[in-house]
Amino acid sequence: MSQVHNSSTAAALQQQIRDRSIEEAIQLLVAAYPGAVTFSTSFSYEDQVITDIIQTHEFPVSLFTLDTGRLFPETYSTWSRTLEFYKTSIKAYYPDAQALSDYIETNGPNAFYDSPELRSACCTIRKVIPLKKALAGNAIWITGLRAEHSPARHDLTPIEWDAANQIIKYHPLLHWTTEEVKQYIHQKAIPYNPLHDKGFVSIGCAPCTRAIKPGEDFRAGRWWWEDNSKKECGLHSHEPKKTAEA
Ligand code: ADX
Ligand code: SF4
Repeated sequence: MSQVHNSSTAAALQQQIRDRSIEEAIQLLVAAYPGAVTFSTSFSYEDQVITDIIQTHEFPVSLFTLDTGRLFPETYSTWSRTLEFYKTSIKAYYPDAQALSDYIETNGPNAFYDSPELRSACCTIRKVIPLKKALAGNAIWITGLRAEHSPARHDLTPIEWDAANQIIKYHPLLHWTTEEVKQYIHQKAIPYNPLHDKGFVSIGCAPCTRAIKPGEDFRAGRWWWEDNSKKECGLHSHEPKKTAEA
């Protein structure tokens, strides 16, 4: 993959996929960047829809997950069921064993509750560094981000330049509603995380995620002991409105 990609490429791609279906957009991206389109799945509702689209159309997109080691048992079983259902493989990325061991030896296994700094350090070791490994060599990173998830995601465009990771992101379900996501899952009878039926909306690591009450903000169940403004783990850093126009 020799093509240069940057914020201008992202803006041009945004224009090209405008008014196209998700399938057409993915087709365009895999043709433009053969072997360099990857999708990150956390086995959430949204991610299961995207996996289904990729698998149904046999798009040459690699699938990966970041196994933090602290996921819910239900997430691991959704992962297994997904492999069986699609007869596919999903590459798993893991934290560096030495970095994790040092962190836990110094701070303890649940230090994320102690301070925002220790929480962020845990996310960096368990998610952000493995993400960088997963993205290496790719030009396009497909995610399940939706605008409804949080105010920080409202302003995004489906194609976004990610300066932190030097990659173009594509969020196919950005403007889908929760109802549309649920309908897709149930109509196609595809595997999903049973925690979604128990009030969990956005699902991350078990010690850092809880169910929300009706009417609560979508992100209320993530890192609930922290300020709203800090509720990102470093996987997604956004510079809204600086790249492509919607
Ligand atoms: S997070 O930044 O708060 O952790 P969120 O749970 O909203 O992210 O998920 C948004 C998207 O990030 C998912 O649709 C998926 O593409 C990616 N993602 C989040 N967690 C993981 C994970 N553990 N492994 C792979 N991808 C992930
Ligand atoms: Fe660590 Fe919690 Fe971040 Fe998971 S979500 S990596 S357990 S701080």
